[in-house]
This record gives sequence, structure tokens and C-alpha cells, in this order.
Amino acid sequence: MKRIIAAGVVAIAVAVAGSALAADGAAIFKAKCVACHGAEGAGTAMAPAFKGNAFVRDSKNVECELVVTHGRKGDEKKHKNFAMAMPSHEGKLSADEIKAVVDYIKTLAK
Ligand code: HEC
Repeated sequence: MKRIIAAGVVAIAVAVAGSALAADGAAIFKAKCVACHGAEGAGTAMAPAFKGNAFVRDSKNVECELVVTHGRKGDEKKHKNFAMAMPSHEGKLSADEIKAVVDYIKTLAK
């Protein structure tokens, strides 16, 4: 009996850990990106829109992931009309979270 209970506890623990690991791109976007890039990626006075954004739409996921990870500032900046830099998310989001949020913003860029 004890063994059966132990196996059940392990199964539940694995299920909970599994769902926690599947990063939710939309939720990450709301928490970390909306303030600058706007709801639904419509853009704000601080940062460019993702809707119809050719870079976000046409670049490889890995290129977008690099921008999110390292940010873009100074001479790397592409949108000089926005004074602000794109902040680095290194150490703030995991690689899986960055992949998930890039998958999500690609759906906004169409
Ligand atoms: C503090 C404001 C701010 C936050 C927060 C922010 N960004 Fe940005 N982001 C910018 C700015 C400003 C730029 C334009 C940089 C430039 O001039 O190249 C930018 C550019 C980008 C680009 C490149 C777009 C292009 O047209 O080249 C991507 C992709 C991007 N951000 C994704 C994200 C994601 C995903 C998040 C959330 C995890 C996020 N950003 C959070 C300000 C922000």
C-alpha cells in the first residue's frame, strides 16, 4: 500500500513540474513586454509594434531570441526614432521562456 501511495505522489509531482516547465508565451509577453511593445504588440511611444513588423515576421526564431536575450542598444539600435534601448533579458527569462515568448510575438507580427 505504501508503495502505491509513493508512486502516486511521484506521478503527481512529475505532472506538476511538467506543466510548470511549459512556458506560456502569451503570459510572459503580458508580464514582460506589454509595457513597451503594447497590448497585442500594437506598439507604444516607447517601442516599435510587432503587428506587421517585417523583422519579427521574417527573421528566424533564433534571431529574435538573440534580440530578446541580449537586447539592442547604442549603435545596434535599428529604430532610432525610439530613444529607448531594447533591454537584455539574460538571467531574467530562461531560454525556454524566451523561445515561448518569441513563438508568441511571431503570431502577432502576421
Ligand atoms: C523597456 C522597454 C522594452 C521592453 C520591456 C521590451 N522591449 Fe523589445 N524593444 C524595445 C525597443 C525600444 C526596441 C527597439 C530597439 C531598436 O531600436 O532596435 C525593441 C525591439 C525589440 C525587438 C526587435 C524589433 C525590430 O523591429 O527589430 C524584439 C523582437 C523585441 N523588442 C522583443 C521584446 C520582447 C519579446 C520583450 C519581452 C520579453 C520586450 N521586447 C520587452 C523596448 C522594450
